[in-house]
Amino acid sequence: GDAHLITHALAKDTLSRLRDVETEQVAFRKGLVKLGRICGYEIIDGAMETEFVSIETPLAETTGERVKGLNNVVIINVLRAATPFVEGLLKAFPRAKQGVISAGRNEEAGMGDDGTFPIEIDYTKLPDITAEDTVIVADPMLATGSTMCAVLDHVLADNPEPEDLFVLSAVSAPEGLTRVAEEAPQADLLTVAIDDELNDEGFIVPGLGDAGDRAFR
Ligand code: PRP
Repeated sequence: GDAHLITHALAKDTLSRLRDVETEQVAFRKGLVKLGRICGYEIIDGAMETEFVSIETPLAETTGERVKGLNNVVIINVLRAATPFVEGLLKAFPRAKQGVISAGRNEEAGMGDDGTFPIEIDYTKLPDITAEDTVIVADPMLATGSTMCAVLDHVLADNPEPEDLFVLSAVSAPEGLTRVAEEAPQADLLTVAIDDELNDEGFIVPGLGDAGDRAFR
């Protein structure tokens, strides 16, 4: 349930470009793809085990090292802002199974006194999740945490507890991290940045604006 920062210099570099108001749609979308790839590599480096295997080069027999568990990865794409982010993750986990959940905040209802938004879930399609799987739930923004808590409810329902559960975001608000850590203590929370605060509309400040809007229109 702890929050861990992804500190790779290229992750910070890419996030800084995403934050910049001058970054237009195509560069923003490509930046999310790039950040997803870097985060995927960081998950592999920081959390996945390797094993020694004997291999034969064209010249000799030797010992190599392989990452374990790459065939047991499930990536959950929280529509819509996560789509380019997941495209990047798939470069690190090309054999991942994918789940899709369309979940969004009901902005008209506004943020409640408890700091949450009502979440509307329109569509879910999840692969089977097994106890051997590493599950990565990806959403570039973790603001109030309302969306992620609703998504995790779906992901964890009717499935065995996966071996590893990662909640991956680019930018998080402290409030959202706290909420998700309480609701899903078994999840490891990974983020490139923890920002200062949420404003009255529930937007992360300084943040990067509305990631879905910036990538898609
Ligand atoms: C954004 C973002 C997260 C959610 C975070 O999505 O991509 O899914 O808000 O906010 P929360 O932590 O307070 O729930 P949005 O609802 O704008 O939908 P979109 O991705 O389709 O634009």
